[in-house]
Order: sequence, then structure tokens, then C-alpha cells
Amino acid sequence: MKKLLYQFDTDPMPSVFDNVVAYDGGADHVTAYGGVDPRNVGGLVDGTIFTRAPKDKKLTAIFIGGGDMAAGEALLATVRKKFFAGFRVSVMLDSNGSNTTAAAAVAWLAHSAPLAGKRAVVLAGTGPVGMRAAFLLSREGVQVGLSSRTLARAEAACQAIKARFGVDVTPLEGADEASRARSVENAHVVLSTGAAGVRLLEERHWKDSATLELLSDANATPPGGIEGIDIMDKGTARHGKRVFGAIGFGALKIALHRACIARLFESNDVVLDAEEIYAIARTMVGKG
Ligand SMILES: NC(=O)c1ccc[n+]([C@@H]2O[C@H](COP(=O)([O-])OP(=O)(O)OC[C@H]3O[C@@H](n4cnc5c(N)ncnc54)[C@H](OP(=O)(O)O)[C@@H]3O)[C@@H](O)[C@H]2O)c1
Repeated sequence: MKKLLYQFDTDPMPSVFDNVVAYDGGADHVTAYGGVDPRNVGGLVDGTIFTRAPKDKKLTAIFIGGGDMAAGEALLATVRKKFFAGFRVSVMLDSNGSNTTAAAAVAWLAHSAPLAGKRAVVLAGTGPVGMRAAFLLSREGVQVGLSSRTLARAEAACQAIKARFGVDVTPLEGADEASRARSVENAHVVLSTGAAGVRLLEERHWKDSATLELLSDANATPPGGIEGIDIMDKGTARHGKRVFGAIGFGALKIALHRACIARLFESNDVVLDAEEIYAIARTMVGKG
């Protein structure tokens, strides 16, 4: 019996990246749907839960992706509501690579130095990756600030994180280089999660910092989000700090994403969201 993965994407066009990684993670066949939302997902879920005998249900799984974190969360909630008794399949949420990317980035930071009690800033943290990363840092006992070009967007993101995870993250205004430079003063950790190809912090604003210990940049598209970090950096020492580039920590992201797909087919009752994916990342980080 084949391992079937149903890819439900909240964007009109389902992600090719998620499709490829689904195969590489061990699915025998991946069916991708775009434009999936809580109103049209019901019949799709029925097809996954009513078709196979109890012992074979673990060979069907659901992956939820798309560019909108809130839409992904709403879809996951609706999918879970459709499950009852043994009529369920395993499901993973990873809108825009949010959970796997944030988990890989934060796992590397936590692997590199004790984080509890430290202060971190997630630059441009209003996207899916930044919001998940802010939560995971907070869960490590870090005092987290999250910046946006507009304070209102930062506040909305912090409220969404509080609603989903119950943790407090401080909204920060970061409209220009000067305000972003100010926001990282006195921080120990900076994680940049801005849109692809957007420069957020110049090297002169971090290299002489007396407090900064760790910097990580999720943006893989030139120019990097943090000037002075090479895309391949993986705990590299620069200016007395340890730094990570997008590909440097991204190898763990890909391995983690594949491992999570494989995990979906081990039983029919797994739900992989931020907490579970981060727990898997912590078991994998630094091991190759
Ligand atoms: N390394 C990896 O393995 C990996 C995997 C997946 C994704 N990524 C990368 O991770 C990063 C975060 O992904 P995401 O999907 O969360 O990002 P996103 O939603 O596309 O963007 C994050 C935030 O960037 C800000 N932004 C957009 N355009 C900007 C501009 N011109 N100037 C300043 N800020 C701007 C926006 O915040 P405001 O509007 O609130 O300011 C936006 O919410 C991206 O660079 C993505 O390519 C890396």
C-alpha cells in the first residue's frame, strides 16, 4: 500500500518546494491542492480518513502549506475538527516553511550557547518564519522583541503569537536602518527573518556590539538580511560573535522537513506544528 501525502496549500498555486520535499521525505505519491480553505477542505479530509482500514490509515497523511500563517493555522484547526475517534490521519503545518525554518534556526542558536535569560530581536518578524521563531526563542526563556516597518504590524504579530502560544513578545518599530540598529542595541541574539533579498542590518551596526553573541539570517536571496554574514556561515566566528547564514542553517531545515514528512507515516495520530517540529529539530541539530 502506497504512502499518500495530500498537500493542502492556502495559496492558489501549491508550493513546488513543499511538493519536492514531500517526495524526498518518503511519500510515494503527493497530490497538491491550491486555494484550500476551511470552507472547502471538508471533503478532502473525508477522503483521507474514510478510505483505509485502521491499520493502514498511517499511510495517508496531510501537509498544510501556503504563504499565510493565519490561514494555515485556521486550516489546521478545521482539519483537526473533522477527525474523530480512530478516523484521523497525521498532519503537518508548515506555511512558507515557517515551522521547519524557524525550528532549524533556533535549534542552531540554542545548540551554540545557553539562551535562557538572554535578549533577542527578530528583525522583520511579522512573516511566518519570524512569528514561529519569536515563539521558539521565547520558549527557550529568551526575552524577545519582534520588529516590523510599522509598529501596528509588529503589535498584530505579537498578539497572534500570544493568542496561539500564550507567550509575550515585545513589538518594535523598525522602519529604517537607524531604528533597526537601535532595536538590536543591548540584544544578545539577532535573527533576521525579512522577505527575500531585503537588507535589514548593516555590519557597522553589529560588529562592535558588546552584548551580541549570536546572529542568524534566514534570507537566502542576495543581498543578505544582515550585512557581513555569509550565506554558508554555520556558527562561524565573525567580530567575536557566532553567525549563521541561510544555507548554513538551511541544511538542517531541509533535513528536518524531510524527517517530519517521514514521521507522518509512522502513525495516524501525529500533529506536527511548532512545538513538535522544534522538538525533532533539537534531536537533529549538530549531528551532520
Ligand atoms: N534558510 C532557509 O532554509 C529558509 C527557508 C524558508 C524561508 N526562508 C527565508 O526566510 C525569510 C522569512 O520568510 P517569511 O516567509 O516569513 O518572509 P515574508 O513573509 O516574505 O517576509 C517577512 C517580513 O519581511 C518584511 N518585509 C517585506 N518587504 C520588506 C522590505 N522591502 N523592507 C523591509 N522589510 C520587508 C515584512 O514585514 P513588515 O511589512 O511587517 O515590515 C514581512 O512580513 C525569507 O527571506 C525567506 O526567503 C529561508
